[in-house]
Amino acid sequence: MYRTHTCGELTLNNVGQEVTLSGWIQTIRNLGGMTFITLRDRYGLTQLVFDDNTTSELKNKTRSLGREFVIKIEGKVVERSSKNPKMPTGEIEIHVEKLDILNQSEIPPFTIENETDGGDELRMKYRYLDLRREPLRKNLELRHRMGQEIRKYLDSVNFMEIETPYLIKSTPEGARDFIVPSRMNPGEFYALPQSPQTFKQLLMISGFDRYFQIVKCFRDEDLRADRQPEFTQIDCEMSFVGQEDVLKTFEGLANHLFYQIKGITFNEPYPRISYDDAMKYYGTDKPDLRFDMKISEISELVKGKGFKVFDSVAYIGAINAKGCGEYSRKQLDELTAFVQKPQVGAKGLVYVKCNPDGTFKSSVDKFYSQEDLKTWAEQLNAKAGDLLLVLAGNKMDTLYALNVLRIEMGERLGLRDKDQFAPCWVIDFPLLEWDEEEQRYFAMHHPFTSPKAEDIKLFDSDPGKMRANAYDFVINGVEIGGGSIRIYEGELQRKMFNALGISKKESEEKFGFLLDAFKYGAPPHGGIAFGFDRWCSVFGGSESIRDFIAFPKNNAGRDVMIDSPSKIDETQLKELSLKIVQK
Ligand code: AMO
Repeated sequence: MYRTHTCGELTLNNVGQEVTLSGWIQTIRNLGGMTFITLRDRYGLTQLVFDDNTTSELKNKTRSLGREFVIKIEGKVVERSSKNPKMPTGEIEIHVEKLDILNQSEIPPFTIENETDGGDELRMKYRYLDLRREPLRKNLELRHRMGQEIRKYLDSVNFMEIETPYLIKSTPEGARDFIVPSRMNPGEFYALPQSPQTFKQLLMISGFDRYFQIVKCFRDEDLRADRQPEFTQIDCEMSFVGQEDVLKTFEGLANHLFYQIKGITFNEPYPRISYDDAMKYYGTDKPDLRFDMKISEISELVKGKGFKVFDSVAYIGAINAKGCGEYSRKQLDELTAFVQKPQVGAKGLVYVKCNPDGTFKSSVDKFYSQEDLKTWAEQLNAKAGDLLLVLAGNKMDTLYALNVLRIEMGERLGLRDKDQFAPCWVIDFPLLEWDEEEQRYFAMHHPFTSPKAEDIKLFDSDPGKMRANAYDFVINGVEIGGGSIRIYEGELQRKMFNALGISKKESEEKFGFLLDAFKYGAPPHGGIAFGFDRWCSVFGGSESIRDFIAFPKNNAGRDVMIDSPSKIDETQLKELSLKIVQK
């Protein structure tokens, strides 16, 4: 027998018992005739004590031990004299009587403890060792528990888990596809699914009125902390529903997870914000509602007073950083440099300090009187001690920069507590998005998303104004999920393809199978997909989804552990009828 207990479970209740434990050696310390070892397994750590005055066989074996050796010990549970309240097993230790070395280990490339000395790349290369560390193990445990709760909940409300294929053709999400060559069909390729979108719609036509799947999706796009080339969706679809039914159903799922995983109950429905309002007040379609600090447009108030910068732009907006009126010159210079970074993109920053005596000090005092500044302060609800931060430029870029600045100030003011959760729905998205470069419309969500009934008349006159039955689920400024009510009638679908400049031929080639299926009695349907990795990372209080994926890729899309992608040999290329052309 390898073990009677795990390394995470022995307490004072077990004192006096003879136990067998197996695990990895985390640390070894020799102290005054005793050797102390912390033994680790998936469940925790247990302190082992080897008395150096024991039999010479045990003593010799103990001497040969090293970090990460796999051992089995037998011994007695004893109450510790110096207890460690931070460890669940910190009140006991095992006085070892028998030791078996099950396997040796080379010296690991970094210390496998909560705080490690290993850099990112090194830990990615030895991911299987990094996963021995408690923080990562806890993240995967969280992911596991969330997965279980999701399945439990969705099953309880009649959703059926159905798998869909990975070797398919292009899906409508709009990123680049990962392509797989077909050996049996030379010169032809599969695409990996960017999502199971078309298949879940087909399942609705098949009559499975509530489908879900926890499923891998593949998108060849630029990577960031919250994006991986292969990621996991909780993909869902329902029949005979409108937007309200979908939002209610998945608010149910979210509430279940909040309660089961975080112990949080929401007594009110989640706030719903229109896309237009989200952009206007937060400068983004994924607002962080943990704090207020809304953006306020002040264009009307500030124009026409001789300040060229403001007079020459389309949009001037401000936020009120409460309590920052004491910011020093240096801090304001720093903030200016921050908004001027290329990734933020503002030209400069105008500030107004609201002094304790009711006066104002601004970087544009030359152009604006105290009375003028007072009207700004009033519009932004600013009180003595507050700081107004103003950006100007074209509307979309300035709103973008104001959003980044708002998040930065929220961070500095400690308003982005990772243990606080502010979920919301963003609704009423535009149906189409104009692309300047290609001079054509793209579907903001995807081409099967239905327009609002009252906007259908705009297809011919003003397509850019149409709103969609599309919605996003956002927690703490992170887009966790997105979905829509679908088009299910041929005529409307044709209009949509028209508006997108997709010809009949092209739509037949790409989605003919779905359009055909629509001819055989498609029920009204709609759905949503949640980014499972993102949801885990928000619940786990981390910005990076990598920490919640067992074997993630780095920002260059590489798995440095298995060294992939990699070249393939000539025979394989030949088999696949492929030829590599050197650039
Ligand atoms: P969408 O493209 O909005 O919708 O994707 C749904 C959710 O998936 C997550 N996500 C990602 N997570 C990690 N890495 C990525 N590269 C990545 N891309 C997306 C996000 C996002 O909200 N078929 C539609 C859903 C539907 O209409 O039902 C779809 O895929 O959290």
